[in-house]
Amino acid sequence: MSTKPVETVQAQGHGRVGDACIITIFGASGDLTTRKLLPALYNLRRSEVLPDEFAVLGVAVDQMTEDQFRDKVRYDLREYAGAPSDCSVCDWLAERVYYLTGDFRDPQTYQRIKDRLAELDQKHSTRGNYLYYMATAPAFFAEIPTRLGEAGLTEEKDGHWRRVVIEKPFGSDYDSARKLNSDLLKTLSEKQIYRIDHYLGKETVQNILVFRFANGIFEPTWNRRYIDHVQITVAEELGVERRGGYYDHAGALRDMVPNHILQLVTLTAMEPPISFQADAVRDEQAKILHAIQVMPPEEVLTRAVRGQYAGYRQEPLVNPESSTETFVALKLSIDNWRWADVPFYVRTGKRMAKRMTEIAIQFRRAPFILFRDTPVEKLSPNMLVLHIQPDEGITLGFGAKIPGPLVQVGSVNMDFDYVDYFGSQPSTGYERLLYDCMIGDATLFQRADMVEAGWSVVGPVQDVWKALPARAFPNYAAGAWGPKEADDLMKRDNRAWRKIE
Ligand code: BG6
Repeated sequence: MSTKPVETVQAQGHGRVGDACIITIFGASGDLTTRKLLPALYNLRRSEVLPDEFAVLGVAVDQMTEDQFRDKVRYDLREYAGAPSDCSVCDWLAERVYYLTGDFRDPQTYQRIKDRLAELDQKHSTRGNYLYYMATAPAFFAEIPTRLGEAGLTEEKDGHWRRVVIEKPFGSDYDSARKLNSDLLKTLSEKQIYRIDHYLGKETVQNILVFRFANGIFEPTWNRRYIDHVQITVAEELGVERRGGYYDHAGALRDMVPNHILQLVTLTAMEPPISFQADAVRDEQAKILHAIQVMPPEEVLTRAVRGQYAGYRQEPLVNPESSTETFVALKLSIDNWRWADVPFYVRTGKRMAKRMTEIAIQFRRAPFILFRDTPVEKLSPNMLVLHIQPDEGITLGFGAKIPGPLVQVGSVNMDFDYVDYFGSQPSTGYERLLYDCMIGDATLFQRADMVEAGWSVVGPVQDVWKALPARAFPNYAAGAWGPKEADDLMKRDNRAWRKIE
């Protein structure tokens, strides 16, 4: 595979250093901060896009001195960002990291934050720009911004900005997501809210748009005329690990579908946006979300499959009689001209055969009249696979003549591997998202209407499953590709899940 230098084209607004600002992380002692946010800031500084006028204020209930927090940051950077022990970027970051112990429910905490931010703003010349990151339990997603607002910390004036990042899960169903949106919008304007979905931080997910719209050859075939169906697999090898407490209430459907899976669906299915401005892209994504047929309750039983892996009920913090699903497969239909009659089959689960996320586009079979003597099952239709992780790349499968005196067709692949061309970049997946918050680009963040539309797609499935708890759980072995019913879902349509080696 060639590794010659590639020509690069910069997207609008990118390629400059982020705005001077202070990032206040609520939940600064938690896993997300430790494993993702701090390493991402470290990587950003290494890429020379963090300005010198920058500081981080960590806030959490844990009693810790500022020095202890700094030591922890240094340790975390070595542990999770691979930083060397003698590291100038770590020194740079540690000099700008502060910590405040505080109870998120106590109004006094916000007065102290206000005083501290004013002091740090002066010290680091951050021009009054504050980014607040909610790396907390979802119960605080509305409360913290409301209290920040009451303390006068969210108002944008005199040219400075104030932005709030909300983590997932954004609500637990349509009604709670609506309520959260309306609570946030009492204090903030939509353009101040950055609802994060870390799937959009993945290079390969962002590449879906580039692949589709920066190349002239795919778009003409990207529709019902040429595509038979689309399969999206988000398989995880791990189980629930230490997250049983959260997961047993959430389940695979809520945990993965309204957010990550539907992001993959919208990027695959959307119309070309009129520009790469945030709302132009998100308008097209929102149209797809609205076009996904809401399943009538009677169809949920045939178009939605749930599964639970054997051993799940024995996981820590999981109810020993749990009927929570750890696997879900859905057949989605997008009711628009481009996709009418082209099903999107999606599946995701824990404890599956391997960690693998991919989007497979199966094209219609060619009229094989010329190859009458070849058994038709041997003639594979073309398949284009966008490998999202872990081996990022793109594969196009097509038929080729097997060398020899007879005309025999074999399936071959044309492969593009990210690492071969671009090498590998240290990344947590949060770099681009944090950077975009700092430059005010909301393209990769969910808008209020998108989140609500996502929940309305899964709503009927949630309702039916709640009314009829699964009786045959567990129904798949750990290390399998999900329950048999998921295969039946495809079989009924004379199709099959792609075999993933
Ligand atoms: C999270 C889910 O949003 O995404 C987890 O809550 C899941 O349950 C994770 O494991 C998967 O993310 P990734 O980046 O490992 O595919």
